[in-house]
Amino acid sequence: MEQNKNSAEAQAIRPCAECENATILTVINEAAIAYKGVIPADRWHEPYMPLDELKAEIAAGVRFTGYSLDGLLIGVMGIQNVRNVRLIRHAYVLPNYQGRGIGSALISNLRSSSTSPMLIGTWTAATWAVVSRGVV
Ligand SMILES: CC(C)(COP(=O)(O)OP(=O)(O)OC[C@H]1O[C@@H](n2cnc3c(N)ncnc32)[C@H](O)[C@@H]1OP(=O)(O)O)[C@@H](O)C(=O)NCCC(=O)NCCS
Repeated sequence: MEQNKNSAEAQAIRPCAECENATILTVINEAAIAYKGVIPADRWHEPYMPLDELKAEIAAGVRFTGYSLDGLLIGVMGIQNVRNVRLIRHAYVLPNYQGRGIGSALISNLRSSSTSPMLIGTWTAATWAVVSRGVV
């Protein structure tokens, strides 16, 4: 019983706060290493997303939802309302936690928050992010 209570408290999906920008960037940039040598070379740079770009995305209306485990942010997804659709602009899970259902949990959470259509884009070369049901 106590064990169940602890595990229920260990993970959370919640909106990211502005003070978490540095941690959001860590998740994005560590996960984006997957693109290195895969996406066109002239599109790759390190860090993949600098702080100024993250701030510009947030200023443009992208809102990040985070997945935390034991208080550690390990996954993020950014969503932006554009006209009558919602765009998933960024989807990243720390490499050590990928493939454990965290991306799926984040996207389910975002899907349940509104009924407006959701569009998800990624690099064509990121074949791992495109599965039979779409991206994650
Ligand atoms: C793409 C990403 C966000 C998915 O999050 P995740 O927590 O790893 O995904 P999940 O464990 O929920 O798995 C979701 C689906 O993706 C598949 N998947 C995840 N990682 C994979 C990989 N490396 N190779 C192949 N398939 C993979 C899973 O098999 C699963 O499909 P299924 O339900 O049909 O079995 C994460 O792997 C990531 O950050 N990747 C690097 C960055 C990236 O490609 N971002 C997406 C574009 S912005």
